[in-house]
Amino acid sequence: MRAWLGGAVYEYQMSQHVHVTTADHITTVRLDRPDKKNAITLEMYAALADALEAAAGDAAVRAVVLGGSRDCFTAGNDLGDFLRAAQGGGGEHPRALAFLRNLAAFDKPLVAGVAGVAIGIGTTMLLHCDLVYAAPSARFKTPFVDLALVPEAGSSVLLPALVGARRAAQLLLLGEQLDAPTALDWGLINAVVDDPDAAAATAARRLAGCAPGALRATRALTRRATREAVLEAMRVEGEVFSERLRSPEAIEAFQAFMARRPPDFSRF
Ligand code: COA
Repeated sequence: MRAWLGGAVYEYQMSQHVHVTTADHITTVRLDRPDKKNAITLEMYAALADALEAAAGDAAVRAVVLGGSRDCFTAGNDLGDFLRAAQGGGGEHPRALAFLRNLAAFDKPLVAGVAGVAIGIGTTMLLHCDLVYAAPSARFKTPFVDLALVPEAGSSVLLPALVGARRAAQLLLLGEQLDAPTALDWGLINAVVDDPDAAAATAARRLAGCAPGALRATRALTRRATREAVLEAMRVEGEVFSERLRSPEAIEAFQAFMARRPPDFSRF
């Protein structure tokens, strides 16, 4: 942990796998669990939820950047955690839900830089971002049905709104993977760039230089029409998701991933 509380820079690590740095009015949150494709554990969700809470509460922070490793954004929720929750009869963890709620409620600009895979929450968290820059290597996928789950993070509303109902069905029902050019064509991202972290940092610096009140008000206005629908969708998705998580179908899907075999849904 490094902190100059009266100065411009503080840096701390709230999880071994989530690095949070604040400098020059910008908080940068970076996932760092490359050996597991940055799959997000409960501890990491807690750190992500805390990072957004801290950024929201710090008047000096004007924009937040989300990023992963050089070759991987995130493979989504840690499937071992999902299996443990499912077998324990639990639902979505409160800190995972807190991260989703904090994302939806966040009232400052969110910018993301994506390289490699952005799976599950790796794609759905981007729907809450204002600007998304992706490397040519980026791949987007929401394989909830493949895992016998349902969409989360408000994606049942946000994704059709962003890309249209037909394309959302390709992502949410068929679990199709999008490459970076297609994601750009569909309007899921802003640009394909060689260095998405640099592009995200540049955009965040520009935002940090804007009039902060106007920026926040503009962001709030652009989200006003969908805000209540998204919060309501998250509430309902959460109920169904928790139910699905405990289902024998989902347990089969998680066990199949762990055993590196295709799931067998024929008995359900
Ligand atoms: N949860 C837990 N561990 C994961 C993970 C996840 N979501 N995604 C990847 N990992 C782990 C793998 O188990 C493997 O661990 P190991 O080396 O100890 O065996 C390591 O990360 C590397 O993954 P691997 O599958 O060997 O790499 P790959 O390049 O062949 O494939 C992915 C990468 C991301 C395409 C593949 O791992 C995958 O499909 N992951 C699951 C994605 C998913 O369904 N996420 C949930 C969405 S809700």
